[in-house]
Amino acid sequence: MCGIVGYIGKEQAAPILLDGLKKLEYRGYDSAGIALLNAGDIDIVKAKGRLKVLYEMTDGGKAVKGTCGIGHTRWATHGEPSENNAHPHCNDEKTIAAVHNGIIENYAELKEKLIKRGYKFYSQTDTEVATKLVDYYYKKYGDPLRAISEFALRVRGSYALAVIYKDFPETVFAIRKDSPMIIGVAGGAAYLASDVPAILKYTKSVYYVDNLQIARLERGGVTFFNLDREEVEKEIVKITWDAEAAEKGGFEHFMLKEIHEQPKVVKDTVNYIYQNGNLGFSEVGLSDKDFKKINGLIIVGCGSAYHVGLVMQYVTEDLARVPVRVELASEFRYRNPVVNGELVIAISQSGETADTLAAVRAAKEAGLKTLAIVNVVGSSIAREADYVFYTKAGPEISVATTKAYSAQLVAGYTFALKLAKIRKTIEDNEYSKLLKELSALPEKLELLLSQKEQIQKFAAKTMDKKDVFFIGRGVDYAVSVEGSLKLKEISYIHSEAYAAGELKHGTISLIENGTLVFGVLTQKKLAEKTLSNLVETASRGALIAAVASEGITLPEKGLDFVLRIPETDERFAASLAVIPLQFFAYYLSVLRGNDVDKPRNLAKSVTVE
Ligand code: F6R
Repeated sequence: MCGIVGYIGKEQAAPILLDGLKKLEYRGYDSAGIALLNAGDIDIVKAKGRLKVLYEMTDGGKAVKGTCGIGHTRWATHGEPSENNAHPHCNDEKTIAAVHNGIIENYAELKEKLIKRGYKFYSQTDTEVATKLVDYYYKKYGDPLRAISEFALRVRGSYALAVIYKDFPETVFAIRKDSPMIIGVAGGAAYLASDVPAILKYTKSVYYVDNLQIARLERGGVTFFNLDREEVEKEIVKITWDAEAAEKGGFEHFMLKEIHEQPKVVKDTVNYIYQNGNLGFSEVGLSDKDFKKINGLIIVGCGSAYHVGLVMQYVTEDLARVPVRVELASEFRYRNPVVNGELVIAISQSGETADTLAAVRAAKEAGLKTLAIVNVVGSSIAREADYVFYTKAGPEISVATTKAYSAQLVAGYTFALKLAKIRKTIEDNEYSKLLKELSALPEKLELLLSQKEQIQKFAAKTMDKKDVFFIGRGVDYAVSVEGSLKLKEISYIHSEAYAAGELKHGTISLIENGTLVFGVLTQKKLAEKTLSNLVETASRGALIAAVASEGITLPEKGLDFVLRIPETDERFAASLAVIPLQFFAYYLSVLRGNDVDKPRNLAKSVTVE
């Protein structure tokens, strides 16, 4: 959701900025722009649409000179996507330019005040207001750092803001609050970006900027300040990913690559915790004593992360016999929930989702301890939670999550198992058996990947469907919800998931001739019932498909498509059942000519409400 980049060094900045923006494309955007300090002036080039347009306008960046600059990909919030609304924005004299990610909530009030002071506005954006506010304070105090700290004191909302001043031709200034920002350094150059992939090609040494910290990027390095403009020390973090981890590596799309990475991601995430025959949570920060204190869980997340919470609820209640509540982070944060000392688990790939971050803060305010299951190291949620379980998914570029979801699932299983062991709700032999099952998941996932062509063929037969339903009971329902989201977000086909038992309570009236209904069937005691529901939809004209574990008995006739998944412990079946559903969504998206990795209107990291 918006991307920002910045560079100061010896090289020409524009190609580096464009390259960085390209790496942030996955975040979602509808316009882009760059601003460079060049021979005492600020040059700004902006374009609506894809980055390709900006590349063409600037001859790949060669046409815009300067060794210091900032860049932006915009995902419209205030004002339609247009060249005028695109960032960077500047003051009237073009002596200050800024790019911004986030939302300035009190921008209308600030705008009015600035208008009273003689400012005019050319765009509908909150960023132009932010830029002119910085300009106002710069003119008032003549100090670029003070201008930024005064800005921070006046605005409400979230921002990652980078500013260049004509008066400081070799410096980029930046500040953040609740929007991600990292700064990298290498060989006398400094790089700024919303996310690591943008600068990975140049450096693996980064600083994670804290909330309300100001950064001054110069050729000699970076200096950090607090809002009182006192210098603060920060530690450099070494990134362990390779640049290739954020490349397609021969796959047609990032999503396809990421689906194929799931066996490894699952293995790495399990091995993070499962060592020498034991589940050790010391790196997470949780001791056995902490586990003993757990009397209940509240799991919060958005989208697919919330769906992982749904699976975790079934698995943890079953294994560890503690009450588990799963809530959409966007709802939890505004409720006045009754809590009772529970541990709050916040699940998030990016670690930056605004609602999940707010839910963590709400939980802490209510006096609860928080555990983050997060993929991005150093992200806001990871830093604010009391304990952090880092999933080992590596960079996930495709907007639709696949491998991060799978990593979150197994993180959840290890947590549930550990809790069960500590609470003595499972026998030792059952515990050992389940650990074995966990370790066997990667191999079974490999097997499933090899069945993708069957799904591709079925997708080709169903590409014109208008409605697709997914049904299941228990864990199968939780997977159905994820399968349905995957399908709708990248194929743009309408889809819903229902707890199979709910069909008769209204939904079955939606079934028409040719509606496609998927049944997820991995839970032996429940599969027969779901199968009956599936057959009932067929009697009303539906085309029916099943994703079923090997051991589930299916009728010889009547099903239009069957995909078998290997046997595992039923509690872990979501990890396998989701794979065919991911492939189904992927192939339908490809067949329909959609932009698989960057579906319309969506952004990878939802840093605003
Ligand atoms: C769906 C998807 C989203 C995210 C959601 C939360 O494919 O990716 O639903 O799961 O936006 O994002 P994170 O996990 O970054 O908090």
